[in-house]
Amino acid sequence: MEQRQVVIQELSRRIGELKEKRKAVILAHFYQRPEVQDVADFVGDSLQLAQQAAATSAEVIVFCGVYFMAESAKILSPEKIVLLPDEGAGCPLADMAAPEAVRSRKESLPGCIVITYVNSSAAVKAESDFCCTSSNALKVVLAMPPERPVLFVPDRNLGRYIARRTGRNLELWDGYCHVHDRLKADEILAARAEHPGALVVVHPECRSEVIDLADYVSSTGGMLKYAGTVDAPAFIIGTEQGLLHSLQKAYPDKSFYPAAPHMVCPNMKLTTLEKVRWAMEDMTPQVEVQPVVRERARHALTRMLEIV
Ligand code: 13P
Ligand code: SF4
Repeated sequence: MEQRQVVIQELSRRIGELKEKRKAVILAHFYQRPEVQDVADFVGDSLQLAQQAAATSAEVIVFCGVYFMAESAKILSPEKIVLLPDEGAGCPLADMAAPEAVRSRKESLPGCIVITYVNSSAAVKAESDFCCTSSNALKVVLAMPPERPVLFVPDRNLGRYIARRTGRNLELWDGYCHVHDRLKADEILAARAEHPGALVVVHPECRSEVIDLADYVSSTGGMLKYAGTVDAPAFIIGTEQGLLHSLQKAYPDKSFYPAAPHMVCPNMKLTTLEKVRWAMEDMTPQVEVQPVVRERARHALTRMLEIV
């Protein structure tokens, strides 16, 4: 066995022991490293992870993902200890909206409803009426009265896609995810040429020019489901490459190809098994959210969970 495999095995064993000792649950996003996904009790998309965090009976949530996800877990389960193995795992998209800027844009649109993608800080969620994820944004927008203006924060590509699907006129924030926004139409065309017959599946954080070329558009969790329901042997995946591990594990007889080699989120890759182990040994770093912000952000998150 390779040296790294031996290390992974030993770390996974120790993490298993610590899970018992700390009465912990390990939640991991699909973009995590394969070995981190493999030690998790649950691997999912943003919505599924928020639902798990809200429902868990564990005393400690070890969140293998990025900061806003762990923050949402703390908001939904404030009495639990939430560990984020690398505190520096941020999300540049979430950083593109500051609470003061959202407040002033809101004031410039009298009577508007603010719908905020979960890829945002707790302080921005606190300024919002509803949250949404990529898997329920369509439902959340459709649940709003059509006569009210809607400000959609912070992902412009997701907002544009939802506006097109619903026919609603959304005021868009000008944020984007650098991992998805970098994917271009010519890369999809090149991937199709390289893998004839493969279906193209992309995330709604991609540009419209990419979405227009796709066979299917969905959240990461939706992609996992889709690959199991369609009778196709191969797929080109237009999202962060971590998802390919879960796809390949779920459907070993099918083939999955990344849409482009650059689709890697460096923040998602900051979590390693070593850091998961240290976090569980030392019970740090813990994620905290100020109670005033937490209560307002919780309101927007629970209203979203009531819609789905
Ligand atoms: P999902 O909710 O589809 O898992 O997406 C999360 C994310 O960060 C996309 O970049
Ligand atoms: Fe944020 Fe993009 Fe990374 Fe998702 S893939 S966590 S949106 S930077």
